[in-house]
Amino acid sequence: MIVVTGGAGFIGSNFVNDWLASSDEPILNLDKLTYAGNLNNLKAVSEDARHMFVQGDICDRAQLDALFFDNKPRAIVHFAAESHVDRSILGPGEFVNTNINGTFSLLEAARTYWSGLPDEERAAFRFLHVSTDEVYGTLGPDDAPFSETTPYAPNSPYSASKAASDHLVRAYHHTYGLPTLTTNCSNNYGPYHFPEKLVPLIIANARAGKPLPIYGDGQQVRDWLYVSDHCAAIRRVLEDGRLGETYNIGGWNEKANLDVVYTLCDILDELSPKASGGSYREQITYVADRPGHDRRYAIDARKIERELDWRPAETFESGIKKTVQWYLANQEWVADVQSGAYLNWMEKNYAARKEAP
Ligand code: NAD
Ligand code: DAU
Repeated sequence: MIVVTGGAGFIGSNFVNDWLASSDEPILNLDKLTYAGNLNNLKAVSEDARHMFVQGDICDRAQLDALFFDNKPRAIVHFAAESHVDRSILGPGEFVNTNINGTFSLLEAARTYWSGLPDEERAAFRFLHVSTDEVYGTLGPDDAPFSETTPYAPNSPYSASKAASDHLVRAYHHTYGLPTLTTNCSNNYGPYHFPEKLVPLIIANARAGKPLPIYGDGQQVRDWLYVSDHCAAIRRVLEDGRLGETYNIGGWNEKANLDVVYTLCDILDELSPKASGGSYREQITYVADRPGHDRRYAIDARKIERELDWRPAETFESGIKKTVQWYLANQEWVADVQSGAYLNWMEKNYAARKEAP
């Protein structure tokens, strides 16, 4: 069996659902269920005996030790993190705690467990750490995309905490020989994406007749990847990735934020036209920029393509349409997520951002 951390979040729950659809191997899902963790994401596998959910914190070393010794996983896939850049700006402490201390505690528990395994199981064990392209910092318009050898230059408390966790993983491989793999992925989108992030926020606000907030001039560029393509890439790295290596994962889909929002509005105009007529584009509102906002991310994914023969199945056009269709078909999921805690966050983040001229 394998253990995943953070498997009730956006990418983790997609990974669990996809895993059980394509493999018989059991999966133990350890998640603290913070505001971002949602058991509704796992409804499809709630009756599946191959999925075991345990509520717990990666900072809780005693719980991790018991979990590993009782269940004897052959691999750990580590998604659990605080993941939202804006939250890291308003409150960095939780990012340091979960992303750095939590990863450290998980590495220590994994090292203890792995050290005690018989030779064959020791050799087969894997610790896969899921990280982000944000650790590389920001690119100018003509810079080459991030490769695995691009120097780290994180700019937000979130990306700095992820960079620190990547360095710990690297050190555990070099110092102790822990069989680690690290993936650095670009912006994901797709089902179960929490509506604090750009794509699901725009869909939810558009439908609710609310403003569609664009930070700054909306010309920041992200490299978009459909979430199930990311999950497939992680499975390939877990199967055949070289120990101690890092793999960049991206969709070769660089888009300016404003263009992403225009695309979402146009798809909504087609699939769910406004009762009052007109376009959802009319709801676009320019607001104050994110402090320290990285201008451009882009991933050079040639290493994973060459070594592991992975390529994304979705284009941006096919993936974004599927995503809008999923949100339109799952409005109950959105309504459930929009709890009191979420509304407090919306007020805190956007009340201070006066509309830009
Ligand atoms: P998310 O915020 O949707 O989910 C995070 C999950 O981790 C939640 O279920 C939460 O309850 C859980 N969690 C948080 N703290 C925990 C703790 N202390 N112990 C146990 N569980 C805890 O995040 P996501 O967008 O699914 O991202 C997953 C991982 O992928 C993160 O490590 C993130 O840095 C990385 N990543 C995300 C993206 C993206 O576009 N979303 C891109 C690249 C990399
Ligand atoms: O690049 C990978 C990263 O992608 C992951 O590591 C992070 O966990 C994930 O959250 C995501 O980070 P971003 O900051 O790029 O995602 P977000 O959806 O928050 O914002 C995408 C872009 O849209 C960014 O340039 C900020 C902008 N934005 C965002 C929001 C929420 C807006 O213009 N308006 C908004 O209201």
